[in-house]
Amino acid sequence: MGDNVKTAHIANLNGLLADAFALYIKTKNFHWHVRGPQFRDLHLLFDEQAAEIFALTDLIAERVRKNGATTHTSLGSLNADTRIKPQDRADLAPEAMIGELVADNRTFLAQLRATKDSAGEAGDNATDGIIDDWTDQCEQRIWFLSQTIA
Ligand SMILES: [Fe+2]
Repeated sequence: MGDNVKTAHIANLNGLLADAFALYIKTKNFHWHVRGPQFRDLHLLFDEQAAEIFALTDLIAERVRKNGATTHTSLGSLNADTRIKPQDRADLAPEAMIGELVADNRTFLAQLRATKDSAGEAGDNATDGIIDDWTDQCEQRIWFLSQTIA
């Protein structure tokens, strides 16, 4: 296995970690700030999804360490490596929150697929296997979010 194959795979895992933290905090933002007639359902859905995403962070970081590399060390380090854009508004309409989370979970899904591919190329069998569960969870989040505005 070439060094560049391994390096690209580690970069994908670290990018996935950064995306997970960014998606976690945005989902919590919306849990805290959602308003309207669907308040209780959306407040609880966002909290369930945030907990699921947060649980991934340790697993992803430790896959990096088990591959003999180093991972993120700070909020600054994470922020520099995520593709998920911050949302600092506290007054978004529920539909806008859901639309943004669907798009961000799709970004996360694309990063999961890229990391699945690089795991295969790098011979990281454990990541290759476990990432299928993370993908199923992400597709479920997109499904649940989408159905609330169908
Ligand atoms: Fe809460």
